[in-house]
Amino acid sequence: MVNCKINDQIVNYSASRAVSAIKIEDIAHVRFAAPDLTVMRSFLEDFGLTVFEAGGRLYGKGGDGRPFVHVTEAGEARFLAVGLRAETVADLETLAAFEGVEVADLDEPGGGKVVRLTDPDGYRVEVVAGQTKDVPADLLADLPRNTAASKPRFRSAVRLKSAPAHVRRIGHAVLKVRDFRTSERWYKERFGFLTSDEVEAAEGVPLGAFMRCDRGDKPADHHTLFLAQLPGELGLLHAAFEVANFDDLMLGHQYLRSKKRNQAWGVGRHIMGSQVFDYWKDPFGNELEHWTDGDLFTADDPPQKQPMSALLNVQWGAPHPLFAGKRPPPPGLIAFVTAAQIRMKSLFRRKPKENAA
Ligand SMILES: [Fe+2]
Repeated sequence: MVNCKINDQIVNYSASRAVSAIKIEDIAHVRFAAPDLTVMRSFLEDFGLTVFEAGGRLYGKGGDGRPFVHVTEAGEARFLAVGLRAETVADLETLAAFEGVEVADLDEPGGGKVVRLTDPDGYRVEVVAGQTKDVPADLLADLPRNTAASKPRFRSAVRLKSAPAHVRRIGHAVLKVRDFRTSERWYKERFGFLTSDEVEAAEGVPLGAFMRCDRGDKPADHHTLFLAQLPGELGLLHAAFEVANFDDLMLGHQYLRSKKRNQAWGVGRHIMGSQVFDYWKDPFGNELEHWTDGDLFTADDPPQKQPMSALLNVQWGAPHPLFAGKRPPPPGLIAFVTAAQIRMKSLFRRKPKENAA
């Protein structure tokens, strides 16, 4: 259990709902640096984003009318920031007061305001609000699907055109963290995230959680942020973008293959979140996901606990690359190693007085 005092209330950050400075409504963008914007642009167009340049930066947008969901600045290749969207500029002011920082103008396409924060691992978090929104692009029509139980499509053939996927919006980001409980507390305290699934490396040893936005009784994606305490270097594990539907995802997969892009994992259906997924690497090593048909929950849905096996296994489709080699690690090895590392860290982090009898 993780407790923290905020506004004179003791808050349990493992509980499903907690008091928070504000409640964000969604992820807004991810920001990278890359040494060659032309190379990045070519990949993003193949990936299905609408790409444009402004102010020396490269922007990718989806069909949802938001000004951008992906930003690339010139520089050494690296992940720079995750953007979250607050409902109102007033919420930004509340957040800024909570943090003792300023609300700044967002000098980028769409304008608006931003509060810039740094999380416990040094990740930049840009909380935005008040951006202008274009008219959303027309949605691709979902074709009626014939199944054994129902045959709504008749006298009408399926004829699909080869094309990049139609990215609608950004949906989530996955950050590797040094200490899951510390990061969980930081994000929940500020943004009101709710836990959908907490993942355990071993019983009682949490390694991360899929967290969603608290939208009350409105449906929210199963996860907007996944914090994962895993071995290795810190960084963004991936950012994910919703595409129109299953055919669109498969056409996008075929298109990226035809362009000889670097596939990372997929196609398959996840366990936690249930999405049909397809992961690709951009030319600078950042992993981006196409997904469709994910779970939606309201604030009333309680958190669940899941074993680490549920993180990498699939309901159907391509096994995770860790398991796809000729000599996969023995069952339980990854969980064992991760649990041991987390336990070792917590031992060394303890203050002497806590160890006193
Ligand atoms: Fe994902």
